[in-house]
Amino acid sequence: MKNQKHLFQLPENVHFLNCAYMSPIMKSVEEAGIEGIQRKRNPIPLVPAKFFDEIEQLKQTFGLLIQAEAKQIAIIPSASYGLENAISNVPCQRGQHGLLVSDTFPSGYFAAKNWSKKHQTEIITIEVPNQAKKGAFWNEKILQAINEQTAFVLLSHIHWMYGTQFQLDEISKRCQEFGTYLIIDGTQSVGALEIDVKALQIDALICSGYKWLLGPYSMGLAYYNERFNQGIPIENSWMNRLNSVDFAHLTNYEENYSAGAGRYNVGQTSNFIHTPMLLKSIEQILEWKVDEIQNYVKKLNEPLLDFLANQGFEVEDEKYRANHLLSFQLPQQISSENLLNEFKKHQLYLSVRGTSLRISPHVYNTEDDIQQLIHVLSQQEI
Ligand SMILES: Cc1ncc(COP(=O)(O)O)c(C=O)c1O
Repeated sequence: MKNQKHLFQLPENVHFLNCAYMSPIMKSVEEAGIEGIQRKRNPIPLVPAKFFDEIEQLKQTFGLLIQAEAKQIAIIPSASYGLENAISNVPCQRGQHGLLVSDTFPSGYFAAKNWSKKHQTEIITIEVPNQAKKGAFWNEKILQAINEQTAFVLLSHIHWMYGTQFQLDEISKRCQEFGTYLIIDGTQSVGALEIDVKALQIDALICSGYKWLLGPYSMGLAYYNERFNQGIPIENSWMNRLNSVDFAHLTNYEENYSAGAGRYNVGQTSNFIHTPMLLKSIEQILEWKVDEIQNYVKKLNEPLLDFLANQGFEVEDEKYRANHLLSFQLPQQISSENLLNEFKKHQLYLSVRGTSLRISPHVYNTEDDIQQLIHVLSQQEI
């Protein structure tokens, strides 16, 4: 795959290595949004069917990305919304607990905490190992902790701070053994790293749209498998009931929900601006192919990984990390504030999370961006 910078409009001189913070949007996505705004100039063509057709298309397209049927996909405004719908519908038998890892992003953490309060039970946290190569040990600890008392496991495929890749195939097998719900926050991976919800038997996969899906802020997508089809949604959108396309008869107050995960769509599902934007960006990702994106950033990272290895950094084994979100523990003598200032001076944009430096490239990045990062790092006492 070749560099795709020409499809974006990032300023010429910046080195933006921060997609894990927020992606830029492509020109085509921006244009789709502008057309979306213009649609409301004249509401006449916005007939009731239009409220449903485009979101159906978006669900089908996202389904191709994660190997799911459109019927099991819902439109969400944020990961926190999608995670609350998932976790609040996990049943709790006496003595059961929820399981997560340390430094879980707050969107999932608070949903899990809410569940534990409601059921007056505990959340078990598998702590991050205090070593550079965390993946093998952390993964093993998670596997050991899952048992018949585990109601759900909440994880990201790639940890947002540490860049650790959790072994979802092994974790899923363990969950299957005990009927444990496997709930994945895909915000930091879906779109840049392959995932197959059917093969992995994932129960719920929740994704914000503004990072690796390259979409707008305030719209995301969620997959819920059949175990959630009778659940209770966190709001009561009229649009989620059967036959809601029949605007003339809404006060028949249809009790039944639309099929599959339809009950979990956010109210005013058919956002006429965001829907065509997210659709456009996912179509482009499918055209590029997720594996190709991952390979592109892998190649880009090679000189950086060599540089870090030469500086004495222990780089995580490939199995336990990804290439679109790399994370390195900063040595104690380095002040993250000073380092970020130094980056800024060189027009380099990346994040520090906790005490880790997070590098998250995409297809708009070039070798020059990585060389600039190496240049600044080589001037530090690392
Ligand atoms: C792992 C993870 N989940 C979710 C989010 C965003 O959550 P929300 O969509 O609830 O704002 C982020 C943002 O950084 C994240 O890193």
